[in-house]
Amino acid sequence: MHAFQTIIEPFRIHSVEPIRMTTREEREQELGRAGYNLFSVPGPRVLVDLLTDSGTGAMSSEQWAGLQRGDESYAGAASWFRFRDAVKELFPFEHVIPTHQGRAAEKIIFSVLGAPGKAIPNNTHFDTTRANVEFSGAEALDLPVPEALVPSSRHPFKGNMDVDALRRVLAERDVPVVFMTLTNNSGGGQPVSMENLRAVREACDAAGVPLLLDACRFAENAWFVKLREDGYADTPLPEIVRETASLADGMTMSAKKDPLGNIGGWLALDDDGLAEQCRNLLILTEGFPTYGGMAGRDMEAVAQGLREAVDEDYLRYRIRSTEYLGEALDRAGIPVVLPVGGHAVYIDARAFLPQIPPLEYPGQALAVALYREGGIRCSEIGTVMFGLQPDGSEQPAAMDLVRLAIPRRTYTQSHVDYVIEVCRFVAEHAAELRGLRIVEQPPVLRHFTARFEPL
Ligand SMILES: Cc1ncc(COP(=O)(O)O)c(C=O)c1O
Repeated sequence: MHAFQTIIEPFRIHSVEPIRMTTREEREQELGRAGYNLFSVPGPRVLVDLLTDSGTGAMSSEQWAGLQRGDESYAGAASWFRFRDAVKELFPFEHVIPTHQGRAAEKIIFSVLGAPGKAIPNNTHFDTTRANVEFSGAEALDLPVPEALVPSSRHPFKGNMDVDALRRVLAERDVPVVFMTLTNNSGGGQPVSMENLRAVREACDAAGVPLLLDACRFAENAWFVKLREDGYADTPLPEIVRETASLADGMTMSAKKDPLGNIGGWLALDDDGLAEQCRNLLILTEGFPTYGGMAGRDMEAVAQGLREAVDEDYLRYRIRSTEYLGEALDRAGIPVVLPVGGHAVYIDARAFLPQIPPLEYPGQALAVALYREGGIRCSEIGTVMFGLQPDGSEQPAAMDLVRLAIPRRTYTQSHVDYVIEVCRFVAEHAAELRGLRIVEQPPVLRHFTARFEPL
């Protein structure tokens, strides 16, 4: 049989949300009102929203059907058992503790394991993970492989951890837990290889320290393992996921990413004593252990989403459509993190706008320009997000990136073609762009609410 080359969306559109067109003048006014912070721009004022892939995906007809099956019993709802079984099918950890989203799971685990004087390594902590580690008084350490910090390096697993650096930290510091983020969101949506995860596991075993996964994008990570790592080409995706889980002692999860939910998450653990402590905190702030932070209907949507997340036709389309955007920007001479990650294309704003120094926020300047010119909303992952230090001082982040995150099953190829056209237009006028300064900011997670002024 002839194998056709075009990879199509493996779904038809079932209901649509209108997009309201806006003019450049309207967007310019909107930017002024929002203090040049795109988190403060109302959704209806955005044409193509690439701010995040978190909770922004389209649900399938089976997920919508699941909402109708939602059992809202306070204790022991049928939806809880379906949710728990779907989680354990892929991640066979002993205890599953449902939360309203990923950061709630992080808050609970770091409240129990973090404390002043302790250090918590990760390939790269995501912003909420870092903030929750630091809130506990512990130090959040990023230990990516050196290639992860070179946007143009084509290493196939730039999400990997530097295992020698990890061994040194384990020998020198008081480490209660090691984390691995799959895929490495802050580092460019880059995957972690099974080989690296195994080496990290060995280092943790030698030090007697547990290893937890921040597994939001586990399915995309598994797809990259299948494509790029020797020995996995014929392994079914669910088996790759289970092998990943078998190398860890637990996980935190935001069900708003690969599990295709609009809300939800969980903490899963093997250790009975640790799970007991975490459940006690869950009841204080989230809810009873058989729903935690989720409605029964949300647990149904996530249970079904987990089955769809490991479908190979879906993953082939998902990863290829992200790559399509990245390849087009690369061809246009726009510096992007290569190879292209799973859920997003990351533009290297420091290379794109060399006239703007890191402390004048080149990533924010580029994100603002993409909104002004084309109504595209995306996020800075750089000095605005990571530059403010716990002592109140400011330093350039390791990289200044702009992330174009692709919501799951939401936009079509013509939306992506429009994004490419806008990026090319902004690239032609890049030399005219100037930086920004911050005029108002909170003490933590400043990127969500800071206000800026153009310089
Ligand atoms: C790698 C990673 N960890 C944790 C989180 C936090 O999840 P949530 O937004 O559900 O709190 C995110 C969300 O963007 C993430 O990308």
